[in-house]
Amino acid sequence: MEELVALCKRRGFIFQSAEIYGGLQGVYDFGPLGVELKNNLKSAWWKSMVYENDNIEGLDASILTNSIVLDYSGHTETFSDPMVDCKSCGLRFREDQVPKSCKKEDLTKPRQFNLMFKTNIGPIDDGNSYAYLRPETAQQIFTNFKNVVDSSSRSLPFGIAQIGKAFRNEITPRNFIFRVREFEQMELEYFVAPGDDDDAHSSWVQKRLNWWEKQGVPINTIELYEVPTDELAHYSKRTVDLMYKFPHGLEELEGIANRTDFDLGSHSKKQSELNIHADVKLNKDSNSKLSIKNNDDVMIVPFVIEPSAGVERGMLAVLNEAFTIESLPENKSRIVLKLKPHLAPIKAAIIPLKKNDEKLVDLAKKIKTMLQELGLGRIILENTGNIGKSYRKHDEIGTPLCITIDFETLDNNSVTVRDRDSMQQERIEIKDIINLFMEKIK
Ligand code: GAP
Repeated sequence: MEELVALCKRRGFIFQSAEIYGGLQGVYDFGPLGVELKNNLKSAWWKSMVYENDNIEGLDASILTNSIVLDYSGHTETFSDPMVDCKSCGLRFREDQVPKSCKKEDLTKPRQFNLMFKTNIGPIDDGNSYAYLRPETAQQIFTNFKNVVDSSSRSLPFGIAQIGKAFRNEITPRNFIFRVREFEQMELEYFVAPGDDDDAHSSWVQKRLNWWEKQGVPINTIELYEVPTDELAHYSKRTVDLMYKFPHGLEELEGIANRTDFDLGSHSKKQSELNIHADVKLNKDSNSKLSIKNNDDVMIVPFVIEPSAGVERGMLAVLNEAFTIESLPENKSRIVLKLKPHLAPIKAAIIPLKKNDEKLVDLAKKIKTMLQELGLGRIILENTGNIGKSYRKHDEIGTPLCITIDFETLDNNSVTVRDRDSMQQERIEIKDIINLFMEKIK
């Protein structure tokens, strides 16, 4: 973990937030390369959900959440962790995360601490004008259910996908970006007819494993954890967690839950007419019946399967898998980030052999523009004149290809292309660069 954290800071992936003022605990900023990696991971998820399925729609709902939504969803009452104080060191911990240095007899009895961030809405703070920063992106998917169904004419089964920020006032944020207070989730709510939920659940577990494999987190690095009944969230009939071996231990990367009809049932009006299976609180505030016709033309409240992944945890897993220290001849070594090319923050570096040589740099700029216009990601011009240093840097940040422009290029229109993983170099003609690039990067 330490080496990875150091690389992330040194190369501009991840910084502690407000570092120049001592930081803000559990909050991180994503630097020039971090933002690219994050966007690429989110884009891969979005493509696999919204573009590659004919029955999944996208949504981008608000972060500020009406407190009534979270009352009916159960978060106001139950979204809490047990917290204890250590009378000896004066610090507060989540009950299951007390360090060994605190003695049992020094701990207070656990009490529940609600993890939601509350904020005031509007200019008057009279105690009633508050909203929450959403603790999960899911709830606005449920509250928009009718809007999406009506505007897209969907029938079962279908899904709504969303990526966005979520906030949790974690008692003990820790392990770099693994447990933080501000993070992003990639959540799909997949609505099915009751009775079809068990099969849909199993099928989404497999699809999500396959997706992680494509991001460079192989299936054999993930363990499935069948959450025991007494640990299930209040809404869940069954949850399978994808547990990944993070540098600090085996922990949840993504959860795939069968939320039954709990959420739509909770947010619906006229609940008594809807044959809701879950145990829901009587809703006196909703103005919408959250139901849809099944195949027999009967209005029902669908069940929902929810694959929910954290972007930051995804980045940590992807970085951890990609981070490699390779031994080289003559007792040398190199750090190389073997990211899947579609996730690499920079797709290619164009390196003129001699710094500021007008002819070489002009040609390098033309090649950069040519590749940039393909729209596959960031291409950079590396005008340092130090090829060895450039290769080392681009190995460390995971750039799949380095293209060197030298004096021979001016004579015969050929360049040297170096592959990140094999370190093999080949001489190809400028006219062939696009094909090679497309082949390696796609
Ligand atoms: N809508 C369901 C839900 O929010 P969750 O298991 O609480 O379920 C889903 O969260 C995913 O969100 C987790 O698997 C994890 O990847 C990510 N996540 C949750 N809390 C997090 C935190 N404090 N920091 C970073 N990621 C977090």
